[in-house]
Amino acid sequence: MRGKFITFEGIDGSGKSTQLRMLASELRFRGFQVLPTYEPGGTPLGRRLREAFLETEENVSPLAELLLFAADRAQHVNFLVKPALEEGKIVISDRYSDATFAYQGAGRGFPESTVNQIIQLATSGLKPDLTLFFDLPIEKALLRTNNRTDAGERKNRMDKETAGFYVRVREAYLKIAAKEPERFLVIDADGSTSEVQMRVVNIVTEFLGKSSPEQEKIFSHE
Ligand code: TYD
Repeated sequence: MRGKFITFEGIDGSGKSTQLRMLASELRFRGFQVLPTYEPGGTPLGRRLREAFLETEENVSPLAELLLFAADRAQHVNFLVKPALEEGKIVISDRYSDATFAYQGAGRGFPESTVNQIIQLATSGLKPDLTLFFDLPIEKALLRTNNRTDAGERKNRMDKETAGFYVRVREAYLKIAAKEPERFLVIDADGSTSEVQMRVVNIVTEFLGKSSPEQEKIFSHE
């Protein structure tokens, strides 16, 4: 595949979605073809699934949740992510498989081997080339999500979890960082939007330079 697959991860309230929009426009400005996307809900079917199991008051079993995130991902990879990578685009996804590892694995308590099997099935093994984890103390992240709700944004089911749940989720993400330090980078998200943006742009510029020396030449003449 000729494109590059970048994913953003973080606990809710880490500011990654804003950063994703800003990175996408920065890369477009530099002449790249970019597909910004997200999970769950990046495809029409995914959006319907998202509404059905995330934006509902109905009790959803943990297994149904795990499989529905996988179904959303299978559709997303097959119809959006892979075709865009084949066209040479930079795909930037707001969440991907690491979220299942962290939320359904560590958060809900599914064994690592089960989660890995399901991820493998849903993605046919497609892994991101680079993942940025937006790290923020849990208390600050929760404060941000509560402020959003006060501002009128609706809470989904995952936003209603306890601090203990998010502590486990964050630890799981940090475990991936320790295991795959080349791919999975931790970004300090505890700063102003423009400070964090600088960190993101620096990392991505270096990554693109490494993977394509031609691009490095373009950047160094800026
Ligand atoms: P969303 O409103 O998109 O949250 P955010 O803007 O914080 O990404 O809701 C997605 C929620 O779904 C979020 O709480 C994380 C959760 N999630 C999982 O539990 N497992 C997964 O595999 C994915 C992709 C998301």
